[in-house]
Amino acid sequence: MNTDHRLGFSPLEGEFELDALPVEGSMPMWLRGTLFRNGPGTWGAGRTRMRHWFDGLAMLHRFGFHGGRVSYANKYLRSPQYLHVQRKGRIGYGEFATDPCRSIFKRLTSAFSPQFGSNASVSVHKLAGRFVALTETPLPVEFDPETLQTVGVIEYEDNVQGIGTSPHPHNDPKTGEAFNTITHFSRHCSYKIFRIAAQAGAPRREVMAEIPASEPAYMHSFGLTKHYVVLAEYPLVVNPAKMLLTGKPYAENLQWKPERPTRFHAVNKESGVLVGSWETEAFFAFHHVNAFEKGGEIVVDLLAYPDDAVIQDHYMDALLSHEAPTAAAELRRYRLRPGGSASYEVLTGEPLELPRINYDAHNGRDYSYVYGIGQNRITQGWPDRLVKVDVRNGSTRTWCEDGCYPGEPVFIPAPNGQGEDSGVILSVVLDTAAGTSFLLVMNASSFTEEARARVPHHIPFGFHGQHFG
Ligand code: CO
Repeated sequence: MNTDHRLGFSPLEGEFELDALPVEGSMPMWLRGTLFRNGPGTWGAGRTRMRHWFDGLAMLHRFGFHGGRVSYANKYLRSPQYLHVQRKGRIGYGEFATDPCRSIFKRLTSAFSPQFGSNASVSVHKLAGRFVALTETPLPVEFDPETLQTVGVIEYEDNVQGIGTSPHPHNDPKTGEAFNTITHFSRHCSYKIFRIAAQAGAPRREVMAEIPASEPAYMHSFGLTKHYVVLAEYPLVVNPAKMLLTGKPYAENLQWKPERPTRFHAVNKESGVLVGSWETEAFFAFHHVNAFEKGGEIVVDLLAYPDDAVIQDHYMDALLSHEAPTAAAELRRYRLRPGGSASYEVLTGEPLELPRINYDAHNGRDYSYVYGIGQNRITQGWPDRLVKVDVRNGSTRTWCEDGCYPGEPVFIPAPNGQGEDSGVILSVVLDTAAGTSFLLVMNASSFTEEARARVPHHIPFGFHGQHFG
């Protein structure tokens, strides 16, 4: 039996459309709508190869639910990068950790006026009424939710300058507007916090706050409470002048400076006023889990790494070397006291990544449950289990099966469900023994399997998805 998880890093070349996947168990009849997932489909690029997990060419997957049946389709995103690879047999634009070979002259020109391949392989959102794929470069790529066909790169109707943005915008529960951040690299670097109105139409970014940063940090996500946008500025930074000169990919310009603190910043989301900044010990995180206000404090839950090793661990060479460990993240709760200090507690001993909550009902509010993928904390092997954490008492529930490697668990509330965890979670699981993947449907409350729908091929390890009713 082959149970090597590295199957998840092998490419899926084909594009499929299947009306009904074989279902085992009992699919909840109330489950409707569509789960879109995003992630790399291949790390090959003609004669060249992508160097990092994050750099693979974006592939969208669509699971449709109706009357207990599950349909499936997948398609590569026709981004400028993808089209360049098809035409020229090599990559044409820089990625997180992969760069096209260029002359020094071209490197300099591209550094001063960057062009983006918009290989949006990280997440899926609805922005100003449109379905979009997102990554950390600024422009979203619109796709057709029925056919998964690429509509095109969305050009914003504004003049906001910046390079690094978050593929995890937040939606304001009251207004529906989206909040996000973008890092502006120049002689005077800054983080800009902006919002995009929910109304359909040409999306415009309205910058509401700007926080200066001499050496901008790598920030993949942020928190949104009732009143505040909360940034965590890690000491994993880029020297902008050096980045312009070296012409190396972004990831190779990141410097871990543990002698510096991690800084939290809270910005009032109506007025744009920076209401506080807090310094705490050096750590790095990709993912905020949730943030809320309680008892005069701002509470920020996130998945913290002691350093930046996780970025090295996700280079393809490391991922494809047998049994290489992967850094484990710890679920921490930071408390930011107005005019005072910041401190944290660890909420569970289980390593966690790709965290999800009951977002619509609980983002920005006190909550009980976080779902994520987990890993063996001793061997730190590739994540091989789903974990549900009760953040009130640290208790956990786990799902795992021999040779199976689950992806991000997306929570979908049951209609008229009473509890925070009344609903299901959906996770794409790589079944290495079968050589295929299946969509696992779990009862979120009991954390037990309800059904699985098997895809006839494997689905490479991806990042984030979103369900739309
Ligand atoms: Co992410």
